[in-house]
Amino acid sequence: MAITFTDIKPLIGATVHAARDELFTAEAAAMIRAKLEERGVLVFPGLGLDDGEQLRFTDLLGGRVKLTRDASSQETDENIYQVTLDPKINRQPEYVLGTFFYHMDGITVDMPPPLATLLSARQVAKAGGETEFASTYAAYEQLPEAEKRAIEGLRVVHSVASSLRVIADAIPEDDRERVMSIGLRNEHPLVWTRRSGRKSLVIGSSADTIVGWPVVQGRALIARLNEWAGQPAFSLRHAWQAGDFVIWDNTGALHRALPYAADSGRLMHRTSIAGVESVAA
Ligand SMILES: [Fe+2]
Repeated sequence: MAITFTDIKPLIGATVHAARDELFTAEAAAMIRAKLEERGVLVFPGLGLDDGEQLRFTDLLGGRVKLTRDASSQETDENIYQVTLDPKINRQPEYVLGTFFYHMDGITVDMPPPLATLLSARQVAKAGGETEFASTYAAYEQLPEAEKRAIEGLRVVHSVASSLRVIADAIPEDDRERVMSIGLRNEHPLVWTRRSGRKSLVIGSSADTIVGWPVVQGRALIARLNEWAGQPAFSLRHAWQAGDFVIWDNTGALHRALPYAADSGRLMHRTSIAGVESVAA
C-alpha cells in the first residue's frame, strides 16, 4: 500500500494512511515533509510508535532537537519529553498547564523555532485533552488587505512570563516568583516571511507586547490576532485515541490542549524537529 493523504478541513489538516513499516524511508519522509508544509497538521490514526521508532522517524524527517532541559523524574530517553500532569512524572506542572492556551513551541528560545512537533498518545484522558491547532499561515493570508498593511513591519516581544501570566494564580505562592521570573524573551517580526515568500503570524500566549506601542494597545492587537487565528475555518481539533501520532508545523500553527484533570492519566510522548529558518521580517 502506498502512502495516501485525505484532507481534514479545507485550510488545515490531513489524515495519513500508511502502514508503520512504510514510513522509514527517505522517500516517505520527503512526501510527509511536503504534505506537512502544505497542510500544517498530519494525523496518523492508531500508528502505535514506540520511543525508538518515534526518534528514528523524527531524525528521518529533519533531526531531533531537545526543547526542555529539566526532565524531572522522566525515565524516557532525554529526547522524548513526557507531556503529563501526573505528579509522579512531572513535578513542575506549570509548563503543561500553560499548554491549555494557544502557543508555538520554542519561540522564546534563542534558536530557529522547531520546524515541527511530533506527539504520540500513550494514554488518553476520559474527558478533555483533545488538541487544537490553528493555522497562522491561513490567519495571515485571510486577513483583510488593510489589516495586513496595518501590521506590516511591527515587532512583537515573546516571553515565558507572558505565557505563564494566565496560570500564575495556580502556581503555589512560595514558588510563584521563581517561576514567573524565568527571563526567556525574544523579539520577532509579527509577520514571518519565509525564504519561500509565504507569510505567517508569530503569535500565541507568549506574545506579550508590540515594540513601540503602549502595552495595553499592543496586547489588545495580539489578543485579536490570536482570536482570529483560532476561528473554526483556520483550526482543527483532534480527539486522541491511544496510539495516535500527530505531526504539526510548529512554525505555521498554534496548538493547545483542551483542559484535562491531573489524575486523568493523559500521557503524550513529544519529540521536536530542529528549525531551519529563523523568524525574519
Ligand atoms: Fe506545546
